[in-house]
Amino acid sequence: MSKALEGVRVLDMTHVQSGPTCTQLLAWLGADVIKVERPGTGDITRGQLRDLPDVDSLYFTMLNGNKRSITLNPKEPRGKEIFTRLIETCDVMVENFAPGAIDRMGFPWERIQEINPRMIYASVKGFGPGAYEDCKVYENVAQCTGGAATTTGFDDGPPLVTGAQIGDTGTGLHLAIGIVSALYQRVSSGRGQRVVCAMQDGVLNLCRVKLRDQQRLTHGPLTEYPQYPNGSFGEAVPRAGNASGGGQPGWAVKCKGGGPNDYIYVIIQPPGWAPLMRIIGRPELIDDPEWATPAARLPKLDQCFAMIEEWTLTRSKFEVMAILNAEDVPCGPILSMKEIAEDESLRATGTVVEVDHPTRGKYLTVGNPIKMSDSPAEVARSPLLGEHTDEILGGLLGLTPREIAAAREEGAV
Ligand code: COA
Repeated sequence: MSKALEGVRVLDMTHVQSGPTCTQLLAWLGADVIKVERPGTGDITRGQLRDLPDVDSLYFTMLNGNKRSITLNPKEPRGKEIFTRLIETCDVMVENFAPGAIDRMGFPWERIQEINPRMIYASVKGFGPGAYEDCKVYENVAQCTGGAATTTGFDDGPPLVTGAQIGDTGTGLHLAIGIVSALYQRVSSGRGQRVVCAMQDGVLNLCRVKLRDQQRLTHGPLTEYPQYPNGSFGEAVPRAGNASGGGQPGWAVKCKGGGPNDYIYVIIQPPGWAPLMRIIGRPELIDDPEWATPAARLPKLDQCFAMIEEWTLTRSKFEVMAILNAEDVPCGPILSMKEIAEDESLRATGTVVEVDHPTRGKYLTVGNPIKMSDSPAEVARSPLLGEHTDEILGGLLGLTPREIAAAREEGAV
């Protein structure tokens, strides 16, 4: 079966996480992704957080599946020639180096356009134009500057970053949307374009409910937050603990077992109140005006969830999940990474995939979360450093073995 992005060739100048997430997604969607890496060392993550000696790290392998790897130094004269040829033959170029790095290689946007006016040139940067535009940025810097850290955690604790890589992977996903949109626009315009996504902006986009709450705050307390009604609100949106970010209250309550993940998140939708109260043995509260409406419950959400917890403590999180869902009460067990890795349904849907690697052996990776009926994603292992250098130089660019050998001797590949 064909793939959505079949025929699209991507010149992948990405490293670490944000850029590689984007290009891995494009590869799952069928693009031919050519990852350009520095000769000898490659993407720095190949060697970071290694669990096995001398083997590409899981950090690298889980972000670079389905790609081809070529080593190339565009700073060397012959490397520049090869890089120029690659720009000519590719549709999309993606990079996430520090600001100005590609320009310093001799390839500013104007030059790239000159070489290939149809090129879509996409970048992740830490910040947009302004005071911080030249700064280097990693995941947690973006979480802190994009509104995630200030709004995560409990009221009496420090700001917290989340385990979800919303700065890196989140921005990579934003960038991928920009790229496929630019590819679509190119069909009618015939021209490529510049696509840039700042990590601060990407995080803020994912934190938009908190900017919503900032504005609500000027009109009164945030009644679904745990600070209401007894705590106090300052000038900025406070940390909301496990309160739901939406219109229906929710909280993580403890379950039987007492382990760090023996919790379930329960949401009280208005239609769920009656079944919930029946299940936990408090049917008298179903119609009690002190409890029966969302407005009546808001000032005592802590008591609501305490009552629910008294019952959930008597069941495992999976039993609670089964019982509440049978009555259409939305809830979700806190699944540990171990449980997720072993989850059979995630394996069955291809969301968790086992792949085989020539030096590492089998490893688990997260497959494409986007399921498309006419473009199935087949998850393949990551490439070894420079595994496809000869294939790309010879097969795609038509260099002779002698030219390839010369480029290698000069340190260009
Ligand atoms: N051959 C030769 N040199 C290469 C190369 C190649 N194939 N690929 C990259 N390089 C060089 C670059 O030209 C640059 O050199 P220069 O600074 O002399 O111009 C250098 O390698 C890489 O630079 P840099 O991006 O500054 O790496 P870093 O490790 O110091 O910083 C980040 C890492 C992530 C902080 C930085 O790249 C960044 O801020 N990126 C944008 C935001 C981002 O994506 N952050 C999320 C990362 S998950």
